[in-house]
Amino acid sequence: MMKSWRVLSLLILAGFWVQSPMSNPTTMAASAQNSAATPEDSPAQNSAPASSSATGHEAASAPSTERLQGPVQPVPFSHKQHAGTLKMPCEYCHTPSRSGETLTIPRATFCMQCHQTIATDNPGVQKLAAFAKSDATIPWVRIYELPSFVSFSHKVHLQHGATCQECHGQVAERVQVYKETDISMAGCVNCHRAKLASTDCTTCHMLEQ
Ligand code: HEC
Ligand code: HEC
Ligand code: HEC
Ligand code: HEC
Ligand code: HEC
Repeated sequence: MMKSWRVLSLLILAGFWVQSPMSNPTTMAASAQNSAATPEDSPAQNSAPASSSATGHEAASAPSTERLQGPVQPVPFSHKQHAGTLKMPCEYCHTPSRSGETLTIPRATFCMQCHQTIATDNPGVQKLAAFAKSDATIPWVRIYELPSFVSFSHKVHLQHGATCQECHGQVAERVQVYKETDISMAGCVNCHRAKLASTDCTTCHMLEQ
């Protein structure tokens, strides 16, 4: 049910992307990418990464109803809230890089399109605002990360119909993302066998002869 998301996007985003229809994720992703690619007209201060001392404790903003797994992030970000309750599509925030191999993680200024006005008294949102103000990259702790000697492309897998959930689990239900699926060599190879994709070493590794 996309309704709450639509209503939300109309209310909140209409002012930012007036020209683009909000009715489908692809359009939104494209808009998002544009806005990410064009540095906003924020004063380009080359200041040190924003200090997160603006606000207090992480614990205060983490809901206590679920035992959290995974690393504590510089800004407490809940997929359950944004992708679950608010039904924001994954691709809205995780637009593909130019090659499509990797997916991007949004910048603070992207989040501020909503949080300029939403939940501004929340300690997590205040941390976010501090990053956005200094145009600092939020140092997200990475969850899924392969060693550099392994080739992997999101584009190829998504084109073959793989879903985010197959490789990352029920992210939209997670207050905090953690590594809940197996992206070891065995995990990759198991699916390659099942889908009759190549399991040659050179599919995933560039080997010198
Ligand atoms: C076939 C398995 C697979 C599928 C399908 C998949 N991912 Fe990934 N994802 C990975 C792996 C493996 C990594 C680590 C890649 C690396 O470190 O090079 C990753 C990394 C990421 C990252 C970190 C940035 C990056 O690209 O390294 C994000 C964000 C992400 N995935 C989101 C998604 C979303 C959203 C979807 C669905 C649209 C999705 N993934 C589908 C396996 C998958
Ligand atoms: C489309 C609008 C929208 C975007 C974009 C958005 N958020 Fe939110 N966010 C919300 C809404 C709505 C809430 C719920 C506010 C409430 O409960 O009062 C929320 C809540 C939050 C909270 C407070 C959670 C709590 O403890 O209640 C944090 C922190 C937050 N968002 C961080 C982020 C970050 C980081 C990004 C960017 C990666 C982001 N948001 C992008 C709409 C948005
Ligand atoms: C409002 C923006 C937003 C939406 C919508 C969103 N994400 Fe994310 N995602 C983030 C942010 C910010 C991070 C980095 C913080 C973290 O790991 O929680 C992230 C991290 C991730 C990661 C971990 C990447 C890594 O390797 O470090 C995965 C996997 C992921 N998201 C998948 C998804 C999937 C699947 C969906 C849809 C069900 C989705 N995301 C929807 C903003 C979003
Ligand atoms: C959900 C099942 C699934 C998982 C999990 C999976 N793959 Fe794949 N992979 C596929 C399919 C299907 C193809 C397409 C094979 C084809 O081209 O016929 C593919 C293709 C590839 C290719 C070839 C890309 C190209 O250019 O043709 C590489 C490299 C690859 N996968 C690496 C990985 C790695 C590394 C992992 C683990 C991190 C992984 N895959 C996990 C299903 C999967
Ligand atoms: C479908 C993708 C895929 C295929 C096919 C594959 N590998 Fe890997 N391989 C990986 C991934 C992913 C890792 C990283 C595992 C990790 O980080 O735990 C890895 C790690 C390794 C390592 C490092 C040792 C280790 O345990 O970390 C070696 C050596 C290796 N592979 C050799 C091979 C050989 C030899 C073949 C052919 C028989 C092969 N791989 C086929 C995906 C693949």
